[in-house]
Amino acid sequence: RTAEFPILRGTDGNPSIDVSTFTRQTGHTALDYGFVNTSATKSEITYIDGDEGILRYRGYPIEQLAKNSSYLEVAWLLLYGELPTASELSDFDDRIRRHTLLHEDLKHFFSALPHTAHPMSVLSSAVSALSTYYEGQTDPHNPEHVELNTVRMLAKLPVIAAYAHKKSVGQAFLYPDNSLSFVDNFLKLNFGVHSEQYDVNPVMSKALELLLILHEDHEQNASTSTVRLVGSTGANQFASISAGIQALSGPLHGGANEAVLTMLGRIRDSGESVQRFVERVKNKEEGVKLMGFGHRVYKNYDPRAKLVKESADEVLRELGVKDPLLDLAKELEEIALADDYFVERRLYPNVDFYTGVIYKAMGFPTRMFTVLFAIGRLPGWLAQWREAVGDPQTKIGRPQQLYIGSPERNYPGT
Ligand code: MLT
Repeated sequence: RTAEFPILRGTDGNPSIDVSTFTRQTGHTALDYGFVNTSATKSEITYIDGDEGILRYRGYPIEQLAKNSSYLEVAWLLLYGELPTASELSDFDDRIRRHTLLHEDLKHFFSALPHTAHPMSVLSSAVSALSTYYEGQTDPHNPEHVELNTVRMLAKLPVIAAYAHKKSVGQAFLYPDNSLSFVDNFLKLNFGVHSEQYDVNPVMSKALELLLILHEDHEQNASTSTVRLVGSTGANQFASISAGIQALSGPLHGGANEAVLTMLGRIRDSGESVQRFVERVKNKEEGVKLMGFGHRVYKNYDPRAKLVKESADEVLRELGVKDPLLDLAKELEEIALADDYFVERRLYPNVDFYTGVIYKAMGFPTRMFTVLFAIGRLPGWLAQWREAVGDPQTKIGRPQQLYIGSPERNYPGT
């Protein structure tokens, strides 16, 4: 059957398989065709069709999950393959609430870092340091360890993230309030000033829950494949996730929403028109880049971006915030999408284009944006790690290389 499988050639001339195009055209997956020799990562978790703008977690459309489920419900779906029953979900939620506390000694770790440290570096270092508290409990092939560390990580990452934030603004750390939901606890840890008192804001909670769900997984992106690759070496969950956080910190990956806001701020401060900025992008002027547009996979509107854009309007309206950057972003989108240059290149706003505006309205400093992406992405990383490490067929990863260097040479003088 392998012969029937369309082998597409990549731009470098090497055979490569565009699995999502294949699945859309034939209604079959690569494995249905017995095509097992592909070096593509095989995964049952997330499906993306970039031409159609489709994103599904375990077969369910992202739009429906975002509307009807909570972050933890979707996390369960990614991890275990099914939507949880009410009692499974409440047990999961309960276990997570019981694991939110960090070891007191870890606070010294935060004090040792400069207050100017980027919260993503703090996050990844602290996650890596977490494993030192669980010596003897981090065997990747012990199901009890894996389960426990899955819960630990989901419970503790938001607390570490909030401490990274509090440190950067010079405020005291709060203890988690386990009477609150996952999202409200996180918001209180970031914006509460006293342990006793915090007014939950349902508009913020709803918007943050949505953004976290939209970021939960995105198949084999740079950070996820890093997590799988590191996991394939036998490294534990903490080490693998910490590496994923580092990959996400790059401006071309999770750092893009930060870069979008910087770009919008520059346009505002320069006083130049959006039209003029767009012209400069088209002329490829040095240092002028349209951030938050285009995606390696999506050649259509990123379904996540559509939902984020709607949410941006709702949040700003409900919070009573006016942000000229949102108006600039919308104008930029309108001008770009009416311009053949962008249409022909199929450059649409991606998920990062509007998220920064929402996080800013909520009160998060710009440097926290990628950290919020990491909290969203954690269930996907954990699910992908478990899928890779739990598969007995998984070998240590070793990306293929095509040697393009010098042919054999004689050492000078020999
Ligand atoms: C993501 O959600 O991970 C980003 O869109 C990056 C990607 O998919 O490559």
